[in-house]
Amino acid sequence: MSKGQALEMLANQAVDAAELAAIAAYKLVGRGDKIAADQAAVDAMRKGLNAIAMKGRIVIGEGERDEAPMLYIGEEVGLGEGPEIDIALDPLEGTSLTAKAMNNALAVLALAPRGGLLHAPDTYMDKIACGPGLPAGVIDLDASPADNVKAIAKAKGVASEDITVCVLDRERHEGIVESIRSTGARIVFISDGDVAGVIMAADLDGGVDMYVGQGGAPEGVLGAAALRCLGGQMQTRLFFRNDDERERARRVGITDLDRKYDLTEMASEHCLFVAAGVTEGNLVSRVHHGEGYVETQTLLFSSVTGLRRKISTRRPL
Ligand code: FBP
Repeated sequence: MSKGQALEMLANQAVDAAELAAIAAYKLVGRGDKIAADQAAVDAMRKGLNAIAMKGRIVIGEGERDEAPMLYIGEEVGLGEGPEIDIALDPLEGTSLTAKAMNNALAVLALAPRGGLLHAPDTYMDKIACGPGLPAGVIDLDASPADNVKAIAKAKGVASEDITVCVLDRERHEGIVESIRSTGARIVFISDGDVAGVIMAADLDGGVDMYVGQGGAPEGVLGAAALRCLGGQMQTRLFFRNDDERERARRVGITDLDRKYDLTEMASEHCLFVAAGVTEGNLVSRVHHGEGYVETQTLLFSSVTGLRRKISTRRPL
């Protein structure tokens, strides 16, 4: 069996792990406690992962061992038999969204054969991404957002005014926003959750042409895993606020701190990407409770088969 086939065999259970996390986090939607919501998602996802027949290792997790008792970077998960798998996860992508009952909170994970995902530190990352079907190199992290908008518009044969860019609503993005505005392009602001932002840029029906801005590096790797499945382009660079963050990068084996990564350097092997909806969202619905059941909606993307599934699951309570 090829590594890709072995990975595919884990898809259903990876979906289960994300859905268990979403259901657990949903109980805390709107209760103003993002730490409790995150913890509930972590506990449930860990339980789900430990039921999978794999030798799993967390490469993007809740943080380093001393600060994260569970799902820490380096933690081994799974039944300890089966394929060697690296896992990037964010059991609750959008802790604040959940605490405030706002849209687009997701339970997210990506699986790849050992060594297939960048070991990124828990720092910030500059990101730019666009969807499939455009000439290679159309976006460049080192060009201005305005030039990237113009390049995408040219490649799509439309005016810059017809381009839509997704940006995290943060003060630090003032310069980016100004640059995009100078082209007349539209901006869709998101308050949190840039994994969804990157996916929206790759979804041909989503109405978003480009994602740009600075967010978490772990979320950057998860976004890259999704794009690896969906097609599209992405470039990133780690951003450090202080020496402690630089040291974090060195600890995960990064020597060139200024390196510009492209998609295939962040997700270098086949991967599975899974995202289950916690709150209502642009990509998937929220968790719903009915008479005797709980229903979830989950995205499953595979770079092995190229399939994108949107799965609705009803679990008896
Ligand atoms: P949570 O930690 O609340 O889950 O937030 C997630 C997120 O919005 C990511 O999607 C994004 O990459 C990052 O936070 C941005 O960080 P900051 O809020 O510090 O700008």
